[in-house]
Amino acid sequence: MIAPLMYSIVANKPGDTSVLQRKSIELTELKSNEILIKNRAIGVNFIDIYFRAGLYPWPVDKDLVLGSEGAGEVEAIGPNVTKFKIGDRVAYAQPNNAYATHRMISEDLVVSIPDSISFDQAAASILKGLTVKYLVCDSYNLQSNHEVLFHAAAGGVGLIAGQWIKDIGAKLIGTAGNSEKCELAKQRGFDEVINYSEKNFLDEVLKITNNKGLDVVYDSVGKDTMFQSFKCLKKHGMLVSFGQSSGPYKDIQMTDLAFGSFYLTRPTLFHFYANREWLEIASHKLFEMIVKDKIKLDKITKYDLDNVADAHTDMENRKTSGSIVLKI
Ligand SMILES: NC(=O)c1ccc[n+]([C@@H]2O[C@H](COP(=O)([O-])OP(=O)(O)OC[C@H]3O[C@@H](n4cnc5c(N)ncnc54)[C@H](OP(=O)(O)O)[C@@H]3O)[C@@H](O)[C@H]2O)c1
Repeated sequence: MIAPLMYSIVANKPGDTSVLQRKSIELTELKSNEILIKNRAIGVNFIDIYFRAGLYPWPVDKDLVLGSEGAGEVEAIGPNVTKFKIGDRVAYAQPNNAYATHRMISEDLVVSIPDSISFDQAAASILKGLTVKYLVCDSYNLQSNHEVLFHAAAGGVGLIAGQWIKDIGAKLIGTAGNSEKCELAKQRGFDEVINYSEKNFLDEVLKITNNKGLDVVYDSVGKDTMFQSFKCLKKHGMLVSFGQSSGPYKDIQMTDLAFGSFYLTRPTLFHFYANREWLEIASHKLFEMIVKDKIKLDKITKYDLDNVADAHTDMENRKTSGSIVLKI
């Protein structure tokens, strides 16, 4: 069946934003445990750019529907669905297939949204917030006596991380690319924010910590920051590399870790998300923090789904801060 009012935004090959185009959705029968979601808001993430640009391997042998985060209503359920019914408000984070009016997905990859959380807020936070959850609880068990550096502090993940880490009570240093972003990050939990377009962040971190260095550095910028991020650590410190917005860092040598008996991990959300027990506990915790106003989601920039190319361009050019949501 081809339904003209149902469409997706696909990339027909890796490339710049000109590869993005609108395409009708061909709905198939729902399989066992699958549900059909009518998307009400769709999150934009840097991973969408990695796929579109060809940094990550093309996962299909056809047009790729981009987008990895969304929220909406259950419109139909397939056989043997037990967790949801038609009309339920839900959200999901999964690589690709989200830039669409509708998507079919296994119920195991979907969570319910509390009534007081809007579709925009859910789509702005389910991927980014669960990422923060595993970064601060699972990749590293952050405690109030820890000292932390978090790059790209004013980004979508960064603003949620600032608020979550403030709640833990750790001392939190951030970096951001201009003074407005530095100010915004300070309002969202960061104790100090270094404008790393103007100042060398390693020198600043050493000043702030009296040359002691940090327990953990969260680096999602990659190529431009990773080498110096290692030097920000104290002995036995942990480098959590979880992205590469400036490009992949390829120069790592095993002996780099020997400078301070460092630890290095390169986690990805979807390895945690695949564990349903983890997903239920983590999403409950995230939504609880939003409902209790410990995490504010008031910095959401909206674009029309049809204008997603503009969202990509702005994100790639470092013009955005906070979360981006696409509206249908
Ligand atoms: N591994 C995982 O599970 C996982 C999950 C979610 C997100 N991530 C990663 O987390 C990072 C943040 O994701 P997000 O979606 O919230 O994006 P974002 O932080 O809103 O946007 C990326 C930010 O990176 C900074 N940046 C530094 N150098 C850059 C460059 N050369 N080009 C573009 N941006 C540059 C910019 O902030 P400044 O201007 O302030 O420098 C930019 O705003 C990304 O690297 C993403 O891949 C990883």
